[in-house]
Amino acid sequence: MLQRDAQGQPIAIRREDYAAPAYWIDTVDLTFDLDPAKTRVLNRMQMRRNPEVPVQPLRLDGDELNLARVLVNGQGASFRMEGEQLVIDGLPDSFELEIFTTCCPIKNTKLMGLFVSEDTFFTQCEAEGFRRITYFLDRPDVMASYTVTLRASKAAYPVLLSNGNLVEQGELPEGRHFAKWVDPFKKPSYLFALVAGKLVAREQRIKARSGKEHLLQVYVRAGDLDKTEHAMNSLINSVLWDEARFGLPLDLDRFMIVATSDFNMGAMENKGLNIFNTKYVLANQATATDADYSNIESVVGHEYFHNWSGDRVTCRDWFQLSLKEGLTVFRDQEFSQDLCADASARAVKRIEDVRVLRTAQFPEDAGPMAHPVRPDSYIEISNFYTVTIYEKGAEVVRMMQTLVGRKGFEKGITLYFERHDGQAVTCDDFAQAIADANPESELARLLPQFKRWYSQAGTPRLAAHGVYDAQNRSYTLSVVQSCPPTPGQPTKEPFVIPLNVGLLDASSGRELPLQLEGESEATHGTRTVVLSRAGEQITFTGLDAEPVPSILRGFSAPVILDFEYTDAQLLTLLANDPDPFNRWEAGQRLGLRAALNGIAALATDTTPVLNDAYIDAMRSVLRNPQLDAAFKELVLTLPSETYIAEQLDVVDPQRVHLVREAMRAQLATALFADWQWAYEEHHDTGAYSPDPTSSGRRALAGMALNFLCLAARASGDVVWPGKTLQRFKDAGNMTDRFNALNALVSSGHTLAAQALARFHAIFKDEALVIDKWFSLQAGAPDRGGDILPLVKQLMKHPDFSLKNPNRARSVIFSYCSANPGAFHRPDAAGYVFWSERVIELDAINPQVAARLARALDRWSKLAEPYRSAAREAIARVAAKPDLSKDTHEVVTRALAGN
Ligand code: TRP
Ligand code: ZN
Repeated sequence: MLQRDAQGQPIAIRREDYAAPAYWIDTVDLTFDLDPAKTRVLNRMQMRRNPEVPVQPLRLDGDELNLARVLVNGQGASFRMEGEQLVIDGLPDSFELEIFTTCCPIKNTKLMGLFVSEDTFFTQCEAEGFRRITYFLDRPDVMASYTVTLRASKAAYPVLLSNGNLVEQGELPEGRHFAKWVDPFKKPSYLFALVAGKLVAREQRIKARSGKEHLLQVYVRAGDLDKTEHAMNSLINSVLWDEARFGLPLDLDRFMIVATSDFNMGAMENKGLNIFNTKYVLANQATATDADYSNIESVVGHEYFHNWSGDRVTCRDWFQLSLKEGLTVFRDQEFSQDLCADASARAVKRIEDVRVLRTAQFPEDAGPMAHPVRPDSYIEISNFYTVTIYEKGAEVVRMMQTLVGRKGFEKGITLYFERHDGQAVTCDDFAQAIADANPESELARLLPQFKRWYSQAGTPRLAAHGVYDAQNRSYTLSVVQSCPPTPGQPTKEPFVIPLNVGLLDASSGRELPLQLEGESEATHGTRTVVLSRAGEQITFTGLDAEPVPSILRGFSAPVILDFEYTDAQLLTLLANDPDPFNRWEAGQRLGLRAALNGIAALATDTTPVLNDAYIDAMRSVLRNPQLDAAFKELVLTLPSETYIAEQLDVVDPQRVHLVREAMRAQLATALFADWQWAYEEHHDTGAYSPDPTSSGRRALAGMALNFLCLAARASGDVVWPGKTLQRFKDAGNMTDRFNALNALVSSGHTLAAQALARFHAIFKDEALVIDKWFSLQAGAPDRGGDILPLVKQLMKHPDFSLKNPNRARSVIFSYCSANPGAFHRPDAAGYVFWSERVIELDAINPQVAARLARALDRWSKLAEPYRSAAREAIARVAAKPDLSKDTHEVVTRALAGN
């Protein structure tokens, strides 16, 4: 049952209403009798009243539990139910509370609390899943010591795992056995976990700097052991990195990762027992792509780094979610960069991260679900595991590092963990620690204002303008910042923005020394200018001619930069900027400009959208022996349809799709010989290794094949499609195989059908590969409205299941959220399909449904007839009675937007 107000609407939880808990739980002793249909949970807690708050009844959270018994100090106690809460009055100052409940894991399709996946028990407690296991103070500021006893059939559930150390195990009557685990660290309930089933583990012992030994384990199903090497290596690297970079050691004797194929999100950082979606654990060269390998490294790192940033120091309340998520994303981004062998690979990683931010977080920040990094209210916290909390939160942490320097930031992290180890704290506490460790820094000087990044939603815009003064040999950049209104925040105050800048000589392209007005000497390389006012001027002196400014290098702040670059200036930056991010960005700006011009000019699919200068510049990048393949692939990737759409006030998705496809076709034919060269030059990467250099070569070869098949489509050439099919058959790894398949499918070639059939036949028993097979088809470029009927067909395939989140995402999300040209149909059939799936999924798994519901977040930007049709579809979902509060919150916010 939801908490509802008098009108029957779910109640919003507000940050300003935070109050300390009325009781503390010191110890929890849990005993589970595991049974898929009826699991018994005995919960014994040592509790005491919090003397700092007024005396009040104890209110324990519960959800879909069957309550059998409540004892206080061993005596039957009187209690009452208020909605889903169990309320007990008249308790002494300290007492033992014993609660006996049962639940039904096999029917748990929400995948929150205790559930069964492929005959194995798993838990997911973040954010509010523990209350589906037992009655509890299910809030992160209540931290307790856990002892857990698991009892189950030994034959069916030979492996019994929970947090911490295994202290006892043994046999029980009737073929049952037990295991007792003690977690040496206090933790909030959301970090509790158990796993029970038939699993096997890859094991590795490692020695930390201190000389202490640790056992690392990766648990999977028996057939998957050959796919755990990369996850184990990633875990080892994570342990070493956190100790080397931040001095944070592994604090447990034993650290476990377990994979499940039924999971709402990527993975979960339960103390000592991380539970992962199989997608982020299992990989071998035959089944996983380079992207999978790199995601596994990031997610394994991410969950491991939570062991400190999240577990040792946790969140006071869920409004502080970015305290752990933003910081931990920042840490996993830094980890992946530090594992790169060179500066180019680091820059590639940075560009990829920024691309995610700009294509997913910027739209969120501009839409009806916009919220600050530290939100002020929510109806369902699961809806706030967003790109804003994660990715924008990571950018806020990154700006702090930029403001205090890398060493200063490490000092700040050390102080943060010294001060707050074992506590549940706030975003303010984090920022304060970084500032206090760097008292002379700009961060310390501007801290209250800097923290507006936590409180104000929306993406700031920088309008920059440059004027050269020949007389004074100076160049003045004027920068005006603004931030659009967001729901509940009509006006904004200026942000603190670290702006990394450099200047290039317009004719030679060489970097110029930087000397600000009033300085006696020039410096070389990038400068960080800290903006804090609505408008500022930065004057550079000693310049013989108007320079080309390279602004926002490395994407030093999560803002939109408007600067009226000429094409010539952008071409100079693309050819010369020593900052690889801005070099890439210059190419993106040129591509975006062409797309926007094409859209404005109502281009048809035969109008050339790209000019010769752009094509020549792309050829130069492609052929440049100084640049890495991975970087070239990024430069030659056109801005996505979603990114282009964000730049428009009114979006006709079909027009965006058509123009971008025209640009791709033009790149395919105009650079045909270059693509041939690129393919021949890069397709052989030797024995498989997922390192950045060889994966970059595979990415560029794959891109070349894609363009060659696209060109063949226009010319009727059969050679390249034939070669591509052969490549598909002969490929020695999934990356090459999938790229070849993708080239045939996305060019709509007739050979695609047999390749798809063959692919399915080879991989029919590999669930993660079958997900790729579904997703490739549902995400393919639309031709005359052919994708929606295909998607409906795919949903009837025997391998399709709505209950498995990965599978549901592979078809439905690939279509609704990742294929705008196919989804936004003039006949509204895409929206009707969407509304039906949201409603259908909502009854099974509200978290997954609510994510799908967000596919229409940006409806109010759409041109007619899309806009009205989308609104109608959202209203249809909103009108459905008994909607989960997850989906309810998303659709009502969407409708409130306009
Ligand atoms: N804390 C997890 C992470 O970021 C996120 C997570 C995993 C989650 N499963 C969830 C959040 C279920 C909400 C619900 O690493
Ligand atoms: Zn996380």
